[in-house]
Amino acid sequence: MEKPAKIAPAKGKLGVLLPGMGAVSTTLMAGVELVRKGKAQPIGSLTQLGTIRLGKRTDNNSPLIKKFVPLADLNDLVFGSWDLFKDDAYQAAEKAGVLNYQDLEKVKPFLKTIKPMKAAFDREYVKRLDGTYVKKAKNKYELALQLKDDIENFRKTRRVSRLVTCWCASTEVFIKPEGVHSTPEKFVEGMKKNDPAIAPSMLYAWACVTSGVPFANGAPNLTVDIPAIQKLALDHNVAISGKDFKTGQTLMKTVLAPAFKARMLGLDGWYSTNILGNRDGEVLDDPGSFKTKEESKLGALEYILQPQLYPDLYKKMYHKVRINYYPPRGDNKEGWDNIDIFGWLRYPMQIKVDFLCRDSILAAPIVLDLVMFMDLAQRAGFRGIQEWLSFYFKSPMAGEGLYPEHDLFIQSMKLKNTLRWMMGEDLITHLGQEYYD
Ligand SMILES: NC(=O)c1ccc[n+]([C@@H]2O[C@H](COP(=O)([O-])OP(=O)(O)OC[C@H]3O[C@@H](n4cnc5c(N)ncnc54)[C@H](O)[C@@H]3O)[C@@H](O)[C@H]2O)c1
Repeated sequence: MEKPAKIAPAKGKLGVLLPGMGAVSTTLMAGVELVRKGKAQPIGSLTQLGTIRLGKRTDNNSPLIKKFVPLADLNDLVFGSWDLFKDDAYQAAEKAGVLNYQDLEKVKPFLKTIKPMKAAFDREYVKRLDGTYVKKAKNKYELALQLKDDIENFRKTRRVSRLVTCWCASTEVFIKPEGVHSTPEKFVEGMKKNDPAIAPSMLYAWACVTSGVPFANGAPNLTVDIPAIQKLALDHNVAISGKDFKTGQTLMKTVLAPAFKARMLGLDGWYSTNILGNRDGEVLDDPGSFKTKEESKLGALEYILQPQLYPDLYKKMYHKVRINYYPPRGDNKEGWDNIDIFGWLRYPMQIKVDFLCRDSILAAPIVLDLVMFMDLAQRAGFRGIQEWLSFYFKSPMAGEGLYPEHDLFIQSMKLKNTLRWMMGEDLITHLGQEYYD
């Protein structure tokens, strides 16, 4: 495959549209502004801090990624959002309780200026929330058209040259792909008939993709992971990616499981449980939303361990995932894993992981990187599913007939090699024989 002939420069402002102005979105907005003011560092962001090796190990050439590929400048990001609560970004951040008072005060005037647009929302899909700041229309199609108007209005009034959307709104109830998701035509018909299999997140996806706006999905909802939206993405030359940010427990899982497989260590069982007390935890306390998350969290091990290739090691593995809403912890989640492995002569061993993490602190830099890379992909003329961004997702989307790649290290290599390929540099295979010739 040919590398892209030309990558359009990152000229002008980049509009960052975030459906859902909750913990993750406001932590991102506040963080970007703190970094812009020189009051904090963008820790956790590959696009801001990461380097990329070019050429041989002996060349000592490892530029910063942001110097190597033409990314948008942080100063050019302009934020917009939708939510069913009318709070501005400062009030929403205060309620989310992720950042402390001192940090929020430093960016209060900036956050105060970010006010959400009315949401396309329906309680049927997020049962634990009820807000009044919602759009009204006679059917889902009309709602989606209103979202398109919002996008164009934002483009015009905020004078942005490009836009990227990243879904940071709540996890919706579990929906299986159906006929109505199969083609763009059936999807439009379905919206007009208020088909229950069309969730609000799909309306945002349809509005963005048909407006030429790349869309990354941070939640486990299907959203852009349906043939109708994928076809539209190709027709409109739009990049899409998803789904579900890979932040805490699954990040650890996709680091540890490849190590077991690489060393041919067996696995009897992996029990994962979480306690968290933020609004996301409350939403996931509903069985419908939890089912969507559970499916997303369960996939990784099967794909990484390949029990069909290693039946003696992984065929009987028992994998369980639980999420418990526990308000006292707020956004500070505890992800606890008990892993029963076995080694030489089948002697059993145990590993315990107790990750006392901060959900939105882990998620915010992922949103920033996705915004930067999705904008780059769009300017490079990439369209459809961006598999090279699997690195950021718990449940990565892949083309038809392809299995998704979950191993964090393969994902990282895939991402960096895509950047090298994009810029016409040699890919790095890690063969290394040439050093010994
Ligand atoms: N933080 C993490 O580590 C992490 C990891 C993976 C996925 N996620 C996902 O990211 C999303 C955001 O997480 P969060 O902690 O910020 O949640 P949150 O509950 O703090 O924020 C979500 C916001 O979305 C709004 N919302 C719900 N439906 C909407 C709609 N249809 N339109 C517009 N707004 C809507 C809610 O009112 C809320 O303000 C969740 O789906 C979560 O599952 C988070």
